[in-house]
Amino acid sequence: MAKTVRLEPIAQQSEIETNGNLLSVLLNKDLDVLKECGGRGMCATCHIYVQEGMDSLTPVNRREQRTLEVITSCRPNSRLACQSRVIGQGVVVELPPGMYVNSLQDIEALIGRRAEQALLHPITGEVLVEQDKLITRSMLKQLEDTASFKVGEFFSHSKDA
Ligand code: FES
Repeated sequence: MAKTVRLEPIAQQSEIETNGNLLSVLLNKDLDVLKECGGRGMCATCHIYVQEGMDSLTPVNRREQRTLEVITSCRPNSRLACQSRVIGQGVVVELPPGMYVNSLQDIEALIGRRAEQALLHPITGEVLVEQDKLITRSMLKQLEDTASFKVGEFFSHSKDA
């Protein structure tokens, strides 16, 4: 039987097959999820918060746990959307107020455009580029000096996983 998942704060609802993962719900709604690791629980660019219905999701697995541990914006209700399968009703997902990027290259690709949504650091959750800001080369330079993007090091367990 299909399950209903609600997404906040955008107040959208989606149907998903039992055992389908939350990442597919986000993608179905055309949300920009980088899913840098291809949905293997190793990059944190699909980090979301579960407002309600944690019991209606499959439990956190070991790999997810290890990835969540390095995210400083992690809360007790944090999950990785790609690792959370929906097994019951009543799941309410809280989306981050922007999109996670995994490297400066992701931002570089957007130079000359306005950020459609805030761009967030995948580990700290810090806002790197505010929504509607024009992305320029000098902004990138500034970020290079300030934001550490050694994301690969943080998620180095991905090699032995
Ligand atoms: S897509 Fe990489 S952790 Fe979920």
